[in-house]
Amino acid sequence: MRKKIVAGNWKMHKNAAQTKDLLNQLLSEIPAETSAHVFVAPTFINLASAVENLTHSNISVAAQNVHQAESGAFTGEISADMLKSVGVKTVILGHSERRSIFHETDALIASKVNTALVHDMTVIFCFGEELKDRQSGNHFNIVENQLRDGLFHIQAKDWEKIVLAYEPVWAIGTGETASPDQAQEMHEFIRETVRKAFGSDIAEDVSILYGGSVKPDNAKEIFSKPDVDGGLIGGAALNAKDFISIVTSI
Ligand code: 13P
Repeated sequence: MRKKIVAGNWKMHKNAAQTKDLLNQLLSEIPAETSAHVFVAPTFINLASAVENLTHSNISVAAQNVHQAESGAFTGEISADMLKSVGVKTVILGHSERRSIFHETDALIASKVNTALVHDMTVIFCFGEELKDRQSGNHFNIVENQLRDGLFHIQAKDWEKIVLAYEPVWAIGTGETASPDQAQEMHEFIRETVRKAFGSDIAEDVSILYGGSVKPDNAKEIFSKPDVDGGLIGGAALNAKDFISIVTSI
C-alpha cells in the first residue's frame, strides 16, 4: 500500500543536546492523528539516543548513509549491522550530496542498496537531475538512468522496502523549489518508469517523495499532486514548528 511519508534529513546539523531537544518538541507537538508516516534522520552519532527517545512514538529513525561492506578496515565508516544493532531500520541512500561531494557512483549506491536489503532495511532512494540537465532537456534521461543503474537490479519482492525520493539538485538548499506541476510531471514519469520495469502493482504501491526547498508555505500544494506521496525535508526539518507544519500539510 502506498504510504504518505514525511522524512526530515538533518544532514550534518544538531549535536546531542540539540537532537534531544528537537525530538522532544516533535514528540509533544506532532498531532497523533497525522496521516503521514514521519521519519527523522539525525547524524550517525545521535541515532542510538534518537531511537531510545522515540520508543513508543510513531516517529521512525533513519540513517543518512551506510557502508556497503559487512565489516572490515574501513576507517570512519558505519555498517548496516551496526545500524540495526541500535534499532535503525531505514537508511537514506544516493543523496545528491553523497553523489557530488563524496563521489558516490550509481554502482556504489547499487551495492549499498543490496547491503541494506540483505539486512532487511528500508531504503529511501534519492535521485534527481542537476540544473544543467534540466536546462538541456535531459532531466528525464538522467532520472531514468539513476533509477536503472542504482536500483532496478533489485527483485520484485524488494520493492516493499523501497521509498523513492526525487530531489532535483537545483532545488536543494537553494530556496528554489520545483513547481507543483514540475514535481507531478517527474513523479508521473518515475512511476511510469517503475511500471515498465516491474509492473503496475509495484508502481502503484511505491511511495515517491519530493525533496528540495519544501517549506511550510509550499508543502500543501506540492503534496496535493496525485503522484507526490510526501517529502524529504532538509532545512525546514531542523525547526520543529516548520517540520510539523509540513507534516500536517499532507
Ligand atoms: P532542503 O529542504 O534544505 O532543500 O534539502 C532537501 C534535501 O536535500 C533533503 O534530503
